[in-house]
Amino acid sequence: MDAKPDVDGRRVCAELDKLATFSDADPPDVTRVLFTQQDLAARAYLKGLFAEAGLTIRQDAVGNLFARWPGTEAELPAVATGSHTDAIPHSGRYDGTVGVLGALEAIRALARTGLRPRRSIELIMFTSEEPTRFGLGCLGSRLLTGSLDPQKAGQLVDFEGQSLEQVRSDAGLEGAMASVRLPAGAYSAFVELHIEQGPILEQEGLDIGIVTAIAAPATLRVTLRGAGGHAGATLMPGRRDAFLAAAEIALAAERAALESGSADAVATTGFCRIHPGAVNSIPSRAVLEIDVRDIRLGVRDRMVTEIRRAAQEVAGRREVTLTIDTLNADPPAECDPSIVAVVRAACAGRGVSSMPMVSRAYHDSLFMARIAPTGMIFIPCRGGISHRPDEFASPEAIERGVGVLAETLYRLASQ
Ligand code: HGY
Ligand code: MN
Ligand code: MN
Repeated sequence: MDAKPDVDGRRVCAELDKLATFSDADPPDVTRVLFTQQDLAARAYLKGLFAEAGLTIRQDAVGNLFARWPGTEAELPAVATGSHTDAIPHSGRYDGTVGVLGALEAIRALARTGLRPRRSIELIMFTSEEPTRFGLGCLGSRLLTGSLDPQKAGQLVDFEGQSLEQVRSDAGLEGAMASVRLPAGAYSAFVELHIEQGPILEQEGLDIGIVTAIAAPATLRVTLRGAGGHAGATLMPGRRDAFLAAAEIALAAERAALESGSADAVATTGFCRIHPGAVNSIPSRAVLEIDVRDIRLGVRDRMVTEIRRAAQEVAGRREVTLTIDTLNADPPAECDPSIVAVVRAACAGRGVSSMPMVSRAYHDSLFMARIAPTGMIFIPCRGGISHRPDEFASPEAIERGVGVLAETLYRLASQ
């Protein structure tokens, strides 16, 4: 049965705009990194909205936020939804946040119908979906689903040398990291609303993407150590310049993707740090982080092998030492066909067009799929642009996405 909830898209957009003000960058850029003051302020704002909606709120030991709308049979496993609100440096205001504030509006809209499904609906704001601070994404959903050793998680350190254990306690979080893991069967389903972060829906003129699979990244941290020295007094022959070795390796990563034979293969060196970082000093150390993806695991892993081979060759030829750490190499996830079917029916019920598609970005759904039947709902974003300040999703697209999410949640929570 359809709930036919009316969604207040203007309210969601106003809340998204307010959330965007919690940022360490000047508008239109948004920067909101885990457990910074701006992140904590954003969390406080969200808790206020959840309380205003009358939801039951809890926060776990790593800062995952939960807001529950009880069903008539509250003892049944709930249906979960949600996404993240952390934002990589100088990015936009819709990545992740649409799935948190959109889910809040979906619950509010359902509550306004006066209907109450059997199962509770629980909104989750996941801690640190982005890898910005600790080099590893999806920290909150990895810990919730038992996909990351709690001990190891606590020991992750940021570039200032602060551990996750330390920064979470500075943020006032208590409890053992191991307490984050959810009990088996905690949820009967999980559905995440997210912007597509690609151009397909807009190009096809379609309203909704029904995600069938989620690509997974591998992330390598490559450290090169050479000999530093005076930029003027050290002649070129015999230099062991760590950055030039890094530069060759970044180009090798690009080549590995271009020569992989797969149109879906991507490799990005999005992070590079040079030491000592003075114009007149030869880099003695360089650290790269390389993101490697394909929707096919075999293709991705062959690229990683090729990048490792090339890095060894470059380091040997340039006589620099090489360390490669694999920060993560996750398997892709399939969305559950039963959830895909419910989303498709919800689209039809609301008269919105849709198409099945894969997600090239990863999401917390990548891990939630390990503990519950999972689906994702995509809405178009202008030009497919994301992780940039000009990321944009229209109020109409957001309203349609929230409507489909609300209908989907109601159907799943009525099962
Ligand atoms: O990188 C990703 O795919 C996600 O936006 N964190
Ligand atoms: Mn992102
Ligand atoms: Mn995201």
